[in-house]
Amino acid sequence: MAALSLPSHRDLDVDNRRVFVRVDFNVPLDDDGVVRDDSRIVASLPTLKNLIERGAKLIIASHLGRPKGGFDPKYAMEPVAERLAELLATEVQLPADEVVGDAAIKLVGDLRPGKIVLLQNLRFEPGETKNDPKFSQSLAALCDAYVNDAFGASHRAHASVVGLPKLVRAHAAGDLLLAEIAALSRLRDAPSRPFVAVVGGAKVSDKLSVVISLVERLQAGDTLVIGGAMANTFLAAAGAGLGASLQEADRYMDCRTVLDKARARRVQVILPTDLRVGQGVDATTARTMGASVGLNANDMALDIGPDTAERIASVIRSAQMVLWNGPMGLFENPVFAQGTMTVARALAECAGFTVVGGGDSVAAIHEAGVAAHIGHVSTGGGASLEFLEGQVLPGVAALLPEQT
Ligand code: 3PG
Repeated sequence: MAALSLPSHRDLDVDNRRVFVRVDFNVPLDDDGVVRDDSRIVASLPTLKNLIERGAKLIIASHLGRPKGGFDPKYAMEPVAERLAELLATEVQLPADEVVGDAAIKLVGDLRPGKIVLLQNLRFEPGETKNDPKFSQSLAALCDAYVNDAFGASHRAHASVVGLPKLVRAHAAGDLLLAEIAALSRLRDAPSRPFVAVVGGAKVSDKLSVVISLVERLQAGDTLVIGGAMANTFLAAAGAGLGASLQEADRYMDCRTVLDKARARRVQVILPTDLRVGQGVDATTARTMGASVGLNANDMALDIGPDTAERIASVIRSAQMVLWNGPMGLFENPVFAQGTMTVARALAECAGFTVVGGGDSVAAIHEAGVAAHIGHVSTGGGASLEFLEGQVLPGVAALLPEQT
């Protein structure tokens, strides 16, 4: 695919101007409402700091979770505002319970250069997810320029992602959006070989289109690794008895299609040959079994086995490029974390270009303490998958010049 040439926020005149920055601060909160993982906030700091240094009056906006289109304290932005203020070491003002009402208009009207207003959760307005032109107009009335730094939300055709930049002539991409597109384009459009794609997670149905599009890009000598619960469906499709393991019986044909395509392209496929098996997701003990042996009715396959993990690690270590999306097992339970941690460490040891996407794999990379050794850690889950499938994300398209 042709590389996209997006305008950069660094070329916008922002001095003393009200600049609306759409970020993806959809971060996990703990039970006390404190930000549990601030990596998405940290990832947008270069854009925000640069705009502050250049005298912009910043209006920062994000969604948080999936509220039902009205104010809900559970999804209010206070914890995010607090963490952002700590990271930027400056005050962040936040309207209490509305997105674009009088309080927000007043705070934005009083903004001075280099100062910040964070809007309330954009999804408190039903017009956000509906891409309602009226809501886009209300957001446009707040600003003179628009920057999209929300890669993780750019696959959503929502008002702040698509409607708003169409109304604000001075619009551009932030540093994070540009970095994500550069890294993922390299992987998608100019792969170095051997290329290893490692896909895991719960469901074949969630990842089928990306797996097919990956297989169609792989060549002889490349490897597709399937792990996690989605591997159960592949194994069951080949006749293995998987006991009570998670699997999707209506996806067997899809699994066979993937394997046929891989075979036709002479792509190596690694599926688990051994499994870590326990009695339920809270099991405190596990045993290793051959994948073709057949599980008892109450057994669940919850991680790849050590032989499989070592085989995957070995192809990763000698790859020129690796994409990893989705864990190899239920790594939240330490009994079933070994496969995922082995893959995380192998990526860190790989001398080629490595990219990790998807919330769970990114969390695993942090848990293994190897994030600094990964080529690119994507902030996008669904967005990175849709990008790799070859789709032009709506939020990216909205920044490109109109086609005549
Ligand atoms: C994400 O977490 O993947 C993004 O913030 C998008 O969130 P959404 O799936 O609720 O639109």
